Order: sequence, then structure tokens, then C-alpha cells
Amino acid sequence: MKVVAFNGSPRKGGNTEFMIKKVFKELEKEGIETELIQVGAENIRGCIACFKCMENQNQKCIIANDNVNIYFQKMIEADAIILGSPVYCADMTGQMKCFIDRTSLMAKANADILARKIGASIVAVRRNGAMHTFNSLNSFFTINQMLVVGSNYWNMGFGLAAGEVEQDKEGMVTMTNLGKNMAWLLKSLSESKIAPPFQKILQSINQAYKNSKEVLAEAPLQFILLCVQQ
Ligand SMILES: Cc1cc2nc3c(=O)[nH]c(=O)nc-3n(C[C@H](O)[C@H](O)[C@H](O)COP(=O)(O)O)c2cc1C
Repeated sequence: MKVVAFNGSPRKGGNTEFMIKKVFKELEKEGIETELIQVGAENIRGCIACFKCMENQNQKCIIANDNVNIYFQKMIEADAIILGSPVYCADMTGQMKCFIDRTSLMAKANADILARKIGASIVAVRRNGAMHTFNSLNSFFTINQMLVVGSNYWNMGFGLAAGEVEQDKEGMVTMTNLGKNMAWLLKSLSESKIAPPFQKILQSINQAYKNSKEVLAEAPLQFILLCVQQ
């Protein structure tokens, strides 16, 4: 099992990173692999509304001179996704917004490929705007049919200078509980014997359909077989 976290802060060693690592600690205790990517430190371009991702349905954005396509593959491969951002002018950072505008459209273009993965948002804030940022980030998960994990409080921590968030004891407890809840849900889902709804099947056929023209003729048969196996 793997969790990938995207940090929208441009500041390395900052408060968002600190909180993400607090969550990672709980996940790693349970043997769950983690990876942290600092999208906020990169030049991530915004969506240009060309809708080529919808046309091509190849899990790629036409903008190829940044890392978004690589990161989208990491999202697809992960079992859970964390989106972390500091509050900038009462919302997420611009880099994070560019990142989720593009990846959410890519997910839609590819048959809701992130559906039923687990998601959680984390917000670093000095004073105000955390709830708005938290809700904005969570919108990425809910439009993508993902399962949002919560904690004993909304997932935020207070601090201005890098590392100051450690002094927010309640925020730290919130992160620890978030990690525990995410680990529990990951394990519960992996052990579940309940098959996912039809959409998963449709996705795999859709993929096979695109990968090989030969599969094309067999697609209806493959669909029936998969339904019977359900
Ligand atoms: C450009 C900018 C805008 C900010 N806007 C807000 C804000 O609207 N509300 C707030 O409480 N803090 C604001 N802050 C403070 C950061 O949210 C806070 O320092 C946060 O802990 C930084 O997280 P990081 O260390 O992960 O980058 C702002 C900081 C910057 C640099």
C-alpha cells in the first residue's frame, strides 16, 4: 500500500511539510509506503482549457514541460492521496491550484480513474482562511468519487515561521489521528471482500480498449465475463 502526498508550499522544511510527515509517521508504523512531492516548489502551469485530455483519454495533459503527467501517474498508482497547502490569501497556493485544476480534469477525462481511492487534505495557517482552503482541497477528492478521511478536528495546524506548527499541540494530535484513521481505512479496504461497483470494470475495459485494437472486438465478451465473476 502506498500514500503519495503533494505539498503546495514553496517552502522546504515548512509547516505543511511538518504536518504531512506527522501523518506519514503513523502510516509508516503500519508498514504503509509514503512519498512526499513538493509541487509548490515547482513551476506548475495552470490548465489552458484545450480539453485535449478529454479528447485523447491517454492519462496525459498536453502540457509536457512540467512534472504534472509524472505526478498524475503517481496518483493513479497510489492507494491514498494527501493534498497539503499553506493558506495564501485565504486559499491554497497558486501552484497547488494549478496542479489540482489539471489533475482533476485528467481524472475526469479518464473515466474517474481516481475513484474510491482515499484522500485527505492538510492545511498550514497563521491565523485565518484554513477552513476555506480545507474545503477547496477536499473538493478535488469529492468530485473524483474519492473517500475523504477526517480526524478529531479539521486537518489544520497554526504557525507562521517554518516549524512553528509543532507548538500547536492540538494540530499535532489532529495529524496523528489522521494518520491512524487513514491507515485503518487503507487496511480495511484492502481486506474488504466486497467488489467495487461496475465502474471499475468499465475502467479496465476502457483501458484495454485503448491499449489494443485487437481487444476491441473482445470487449463486449470481456465485459460479460467480468460481470459474471462479480
Ligand atoms: C503569500 C502569503 C500569503 C499568506 N496568506 C495567509 C492568509 O491569508 N492567512 C493566514 O492565516 N496566513 C497566511 N500566510 C501565512 C502562511 O499560511 C503560514 O506561514 C503557513 O504556516 C506557511 O506554511 P509553510 O511553512 O508550509 O509554507 C501567508 C503567507 C504567505 C507567504
